[in-house]
Amino acid sequence: MSEHGAAPPATQQPESDPPVGGLGARLMRRKPVERLVAEGGQGEGGSLRRSMGVWQLTMISIGATLGTGIFVVLGEAVPDAGPAVVVSFVIAGLTALFSALSYAELAGTIPVSGSSYSYAYATMGELIAWICGWCLILEYGVSVAAVAVGWGEYLNELLDGAFGVTIPDALAAPPGDGGVFNLPGLLVVLLAMAFLLGGARESARANAIMVGVKIAALILFCAVAFTGIRAGNYTPFMPLGMAGVSAAGATLFFSYIGFDAASTAGEEARNPQRDLPRAIMLSLVVVTALYCLVAAVAVGALPWQRFSGTEAALASIMKDVTGQGFWAVLLAAGAVVAIASVVLTVLYGQTRILFAMSRDGLVPKVFSTVHAGTGVPRANTLIVSLFCGVLAAAVPLGQLADATSIGTLFAFALVNIAVIVLRRTRPAMPRTFRVPLSPLFPLIGFALCLWMMSSLQPVTWVVFGGWMAVGLVLYFAYGLRRSRLATAEK
Ligand code: ALA
Repeated sequence: MSEHGAAPPATQQPESDPPVGGLGARLMRRKPVERLVAEGGQGEGGSLRRSMGVWQLTMISIGATLGTGIFVVLGEAVPDAGPAVVVSFVIAGLTALFSALSYAELAGTIPVSGSSYSYAYATMGELIAWICGWCLILEYGVSVAAVAVGWGEYLNELLDGAFGVTIPDALAAPPGDGGVFNLPGLLVVLLAMAFLLGGARESARANAIMVGVKIAALILFCAVAFTGIRAGNYTPFMPLGMAGVSAAGATLFFSYIGFDAASTAGEEARNPQRDLPRAIMLSLVVVTALYCLVAAVAVGALPWQRFSGTEAALASIMKDVTGQGFWAVLLAAGAVVAIASVVLTVLYGQTRILFAMSRDGLVPKVFSTVHAGTGVPRANTLIVSLFCGVLAAAVPLGQLADATSIGTLFAFALVNIAVIVLRRTRPAMPRTFRVPLSPLFPLIGFALCLWMMSSLQPVTWVVFGGWMAVGLVLYFAYGLRRSRLATAEK
């Protein structure tokens, strides 16, 4: 099968570019899909274990998605959208949907742990793949730290509600944010690390329990808050017009980030071709339905004007409706569990993406060394956890958290393009899931990602530009030469 539209003789390595050549050729070298798949699971000194079915994979994606967005960001979006925040959730969900379709197609076709990094490597060449992997560190590694900080805030809320004590500022915030050290942020990352070191299967099991708890917490919220709904709260439906609704939609996109997490488990799935697309689409459906339901009930129970400045909006609605603090404490407990599972699954994703990049030679080998006893990339997990833990403990993360969104959107945009490229270069390749109406849908997905990126603050673009510059320096200093495609291997 020709990879380039011409008709080269059939070989086992249809896409393999020459190991040496001009700089342009080296930057554009692609890794054949067959080779990506054949190397699946293999690390230095051992292999990952294929232990997950569609249920665990779906739980990984829901685990990584459902968290601060619904528990915290909803409260920030209502002042813009009013009761029409439900429409904002639908808009953000549609944006996610087009990219999710593209992820589903590629995850079923190239079921490896590198997610969009590997898809880019197979379709757009090494430099773009590196850039994509570097963006994924924003989506996964940096966001773990940001989410861990949010976890600490909810923990304080829980401790306050349940026992009337809070962790003092000095130990609950980093320097620059009025504290010395964010201890809870560090602790939740270390806790997640402990689960991950125990094995992917054990982590998946713990995650499934946490996902159950967070879904139960949100359903409980709906059941209780439903009794407080007043029809009058839904009018005016769009107090700030469509502009407010779409601004809120861009903010709420954050709450959908993570649906792609199952695609980092491709090498630990029992039947990845079949199960990864299912897990990605199923998690998006479940999450969208829950978001719309929770949002509709929340704005029905509390007049939209009262959302501004309310951080823990859902908890205060519970308190308002029942008149009892107990329910708010219960919800805060649900949020603590919910956000912990985001930390666990996103940390997992980051280790697996680096695993794939390391196997390709673009980052040091230590990231793909597998511990023979547990089948876990142990050194990788330790290094990534310490990096994220220190980031959560010591760095004020406001702007970096925004950078998470821009990095994610960039990676999503590339995945949409990768679908179109692979359809052209490998039209006959077996696909367990196909994006309908390609290339129209991937192009819509791509355009929506760019549109969302354009609505982010200029300062976020500056941070993103700086991040990219560092990434490029590292690639030219290390990856370009160490790449396994450069070392003339077969
Ligand atoms: N979607 C994830 C959350 O809302 C990042 O926490």
